[in-house]
Amino acid sequence: MKYTIAVLPGDGIGPEVTTEGKHALDAIGQVFSHQFEFVEGLVGGIAIDETGIALPEETIEISRRADSVLFGAVGGPKWDDPSASVRPEDGIIGIRKALRLYANLRPVVAQKDLLKASPLKEENLIGVDFVVIRELTGGLYFAKPKKRWTNRNGRMAVDTLTYSEKEVRRILKVAYDLARTRRHRVASVDKFNVLESGRLWREIAIEMAAEYPDVETTHILVDACAMKLIQDPGSFDVIVTENMFGDILTDEASVLAGSMGLLPSASLGLKKVNKAGGGQFGLYEPIHGSAPDIAGKNAANPLGSILSAAMLLRLSFGLEQEAEHLEQAVARVISDGHRTPDIATAGDTVVTTTEMGKLVVDHVNNP
Ligand code: IPM
Ligand code: MG
Repeated sequence: MKYTIAVLPGDGIGPEVTTEGKHALDAIGQVFSHQFEFVEGLVGGIAIDETGIALPEETIEISRRADSVLFGAVGGPKWDDPSASVRPEDGIIGIRKALRLYANLRPVVAQKDLLKASPLKEENLIGVDFVVIRELTGGLYFAKPKKRWTNRNGRMAVDTLTYSEKEVRRILKVAYDLARTRRHRVASVDKFNVLESGRLWREIAIEMAAEYPDVETTHILVDACAMKLIQDPGSFDVIVTENMFGDILTDEASVLAGSMGLLPSASLGLKKVNKAGGGQFGLYEPIHGSAPDIAGKNAANPLGSILSAAMLLRLSFGLEQEAEHLEQAVARVISDGHRTPDIATAGDTVVTTTEMGKLVVDHVNNP
């Protein structure tokens, strides 16, 4: 079968890691006789440089026409002037909205071989395996008013935290349905003691919990959740929360896995049926940013992108066996002791981005 994948590499290490994600997909295609066609689009700072905006219409079109999207990273010091009218980040935020990808799935697993790579105590990391469901098209990132102005008090700014019942309900549903395929536990994260939006969230989460009596629900405040993620991370199964809280908690959670560079993500939405069959349309990206400090040095960890490619195979194309094959290749490379600098500890073999990508491809070809 032939599948079309829009590839949006973006800035910094985005192109380097995405190239390895593509190599991994090509290798899977060879082994399992699928044809993956890649169509590249501009996004982020490079798109600003070439077209004046971070998300050209053509990029949205390429993505809409594709069966799924593989995304790199956006941003960098060149475009970091806070008073600039266009920002690379508008590229990723804009495409999530344009494609209506409201549910962001971020699995966090502390792999046995990588416990040492985390600064946390190994004994607290055993068995850590949860998924954060982050609401992705609402809240502070998008709601209006959102602006800056000047009055007699000086410079002012406002961002608005709005959520509708519909938005909260549909993201909670993603979490509960996922929990039913896992360990039947949902932690619903809010700030209901302070925020009106948090009170709406909790009200709906309580209603939803009653609709899923087989799932055990915990309602937890976001600050307490931040603490529990460090103290008792093994207690989580599915965590569900609003956009901004999810952004912050997933960076924190990546420390459990050993490095930001390892974590993949899937963003899914309303377009439930994929014309390629078997799955639903989605955008896949590592959770890390463009890491300008190591960009161009062949030092980035491509596993976040490669594992995102595995999620793409599973969720957008319904290719479960292929996804597992790729994930096993990654696990083998790690258990063989190969490490990019971000996950290396004393005694490990340090490899480059391209070497890591090639090792994964070798294991895909010769498991
Ligand atoms: C993420 C990133 C983005 C976000 C940035 C790059 C806009 O931090 O995907 O977590 O805040 O959503
Ligand atoms: Mg983030």
